[in-house]
Amino acid sequence: MERELSLEFVRVTEAAALASGRLMGRGDKEAADQAAVDAMRSVFDTVHINGTVVIGEGEMDEAPMLYIGEKVGNGSEPIVDIAVDPLEGTNLVARGLPNALSVVAIALQGCFLHAPDIYMDKIAVGPRARGCIDLDATVSENLKAVAVALKRNVQDLTAIILDRPRHQKIIEETRRAGARVKLISDGDVSAAIATSIDNTGVDILFGIGGAPEGVIAAAALKILGGDMQGRLIPEDDEDMERIRNMGLKNVKKLLYLEDLVKGDDIFFAATGITDGDMLKGVRFRGQTAETHSLVMRGVTGTIRNIYATHTLEKKPLFIPESANCRNQPGVNR
Ligand code: FBP
Repeated sequence: MERELSLEFVRVTEAAALASGRLMGRGDKEAADQAAVDAMRSVFDTVHINGTVVIGEGEMDEAPMLYIGEKVGNGSEPIVDIAVDPLEGTNLVARGLPNALSVVAIALQGCFLHAPDIYMDKIAVGPRARGCIDLDATVSENLKAVAVALKRNVQDLTAIILDRPRHQKIIEETRRAGARVKLISDGDVSAAIATSIDNTGVDILFGIGGAPEGVIAAAALKILGGDMQGRLIPEDDEDMERIRNMGLKNVKKLLYLEDLVKGDDIFFAATGITDGDMLKGVRFRGQTAETHSLVMRGVTGTIRNIYATHTLEKKPLFIPESANCRNQPGVNR
């Protein structure tokens, strides 16, 4: 894939972030998600790709847009697979909490695991601990291995874990091993990526989250040089069938990074919606809005932080009569 596509993909996540960022704190996660999906879908049509959504908003019968199998892009080469999460952290936006993102990952056809919308058990670390994790080992064994790789004591490590009752045992084991724990209410894509970015203060992710989110996070970790393992968690026969239909014969297989995302010809773009550990959230400034995005290309490993100012509309500012700012320059009354 040509390097110029980087900017195209950022435009996609910027549009989604701008649209859903408007709805921050309204307590309406469906509306925030819908705004992100609509905006992302329309910008995708302008991108020079022949893309198929393989990780999206759901199956065709449950999602009107960005559903699995939907074609996106203007139809020109390259032929690519797309993984999208227009709004990762719907509750975070609805409540104005940190770390909500809009995110896309793009790979050559057939390179993403086609994960159904079920849970996945995950473990993720940054580049210096690559090759040291094992989803089948205990929490304490993993922490010790990562501590050795990072040349630190276990007490100096921070594990990030979704705050869910299902994680009680992992949380207790992490505390017993002596590591610090950062519990998050949502957003394990951003949490997994944080393990691979300096200064986030996060060293390892443990726990069960969405499988689609697992594949998206894996794309970012692949480019960043981090590591991740996952295992799908089918809850019933129907889930097992869905996994098999998506091409994975051994439904409980331990999935390595290369199983989640094959090769290096990958792009990953994310734009912050609310302020977070890696990305600033959208700022609205009247006729303009500012976004902060990350775009990464696997072939070269280039990581770009993009700060953009978007012109929203060229109408004069609306200042209510009652506002005490009559003499300010630029106020059009
Ligand atoms: P949404 O953006 O779909 O709300 O997902 C947020 C999220 O926290 C993901 O980051 C995570 O993988 C998943 O939900 C965890 O699922 P659950 O809330 O069911 O524990």
